[in-house]
Amino acid sequence: MNLPLESQRLVLRDFVESDWPAVHQYASDREVVRYLIFGPNTEEDTKSFLQREISLQGEEPRQHFALAVTLKAQKHLIGICRISVKDTANKIGSIGYCFTKEFWGQGYTTEAVKAVVSFGFQELGLHRIFATCHPENIASARVMQKIGMQQEGYLREHHWIKGEWRDSRL
Ligand SMILES: CC(C)(COP(=O)(O)OP(=O)(O)OC[C@H]1O[C@@H](n2cnc3c(N)ncnc32)[C@H](O)[C@@H]1OP(=O)(O)O)[C@@H](O)C(=O)NCCC(=O)NCCS
Repeated sequence: MNLPLESQRLVLRDFVESDWPAVHQYASDREVVRYLIFGPNTEEDTKSFLQREISLQGEEPRQHFALAVTLKAQKHLIGICRISVKDTANKIGSIGYCFTKEFWGQGYTTEAVKAVVSFGFQELGLHRIFATCHPENIASARVMQKIGMQQEGYLREHHWIKGEWRDSRL
């Protein structure tokens, strides 16, 4: 696979163990994880998340790519962008993303997601890529819209998260 991925301002590379403090910055932030299935993380949560992601890098064939999004210039880790093969026979994948708050609103997620979606279609040979978000997660829905995704449905109470049933936009 042709990793790392590059875009104009970003490099998307595999995680390494020493990334944990930068990952912890967003994963422990209550506002960042508000709509997500995880968090806010303890340091132990973040370290075990990273260990699991690093162990999945060696899968053959690799089905899951959780990539550290770093600024090309400063090499600073600002978020995560993930693509996973969900159904090999039907060539279906899903994406997800999360960024440190201070880097929101500068188009970084849109840029990273475009690179990951191209990777999914071109390198992984996917035919269909989907994403879901909490109905109130306006920023995430806007990213999906900006990269050309279309809303296909509304999933009612399909996730038990943090003590409640949650809906999602598909
Ligand atoms: C979702 C998230 C990744 C977006 O990151 P980002 O780097 O700010 O995204 P971008 O800058 O590429 O685009 C965000 C878009 O949403 C818009 N937006 C953000 N908040 C908004 C709001 N409350 N109302 C309307 N539009 C909003 C921005 O204006 C921008 O659109 P524009 O370019 O047309 O102006 C970031 O908010 C985040 O990490 N959230 C927490 C984790 C999360 O929810 N992940 C997604 C799970 S499905």
